[in-house]
Amino acid sequence: MTDVKRIGRDERVRVTCTVNGKRQSGFAEPRTLLSDFLRHELYLYGTHVGCEHGVCGACTVTLNGRLARSCMTFAVQAEGAAIGTVEGLSDAGTLNALQRAFTEFGALQCGFCTAGILISATHFLAKVPNPTEEDVRAMLSGHLCRCTGYEGMVRAILSVAESSS
Ligand code: FES
Ligand code: FES
Repeated sequence: MTDVKRIGRDERVRVTCTVNGKRQSGFAEPRTLLSDFLRHELYLYGTHVGCEHGVCGACTVTLNGRLARSCMTFAVQAEGAAIGTVEGLSDAGTLNALQRAFTEFGALQCGFCTAGILISATHFLAKVPNPTEEDVRAMLSGHLCRCTGYEGMVRAILSVAESSS
């Protein structure tokens, strides 16, 4: 049987995980969300928090290679895990091909939804390198954007897929 460590309601425990390839640690209460842990303990403000109940996708990160809503994940669940956030997509001060395509095709306006969408799109393109427009639209259906109408995102993602095939 797995050893389960009991944590008091108001106890803060150290959580250590690998974020964008770098081992990091911070403190979390049992109720602390992974999104808050990333932003307020690790100072990674790229992950945004919108609805806080798993609907909008703004908080999407990768957790051990799978997409996760960080607003629906407790920080303590990330103990020992590998997490990917938007900060890890490119070196500081640079943009990768997908990020450049987002700017080129006008795929963002306020940018609130963008970090989560970039994470999902990156994960998607790794699994589906030659997607159809319908595939891209189906993937984007997991994200809410109040500004763009999605057209630029579809064009940007398809252009990156085409240029890398
Ligand atoms: S903030 Fe997590 S899905 Fe909206
Ligand atoms: S660019 Fe504003 S919410 Fe998507």
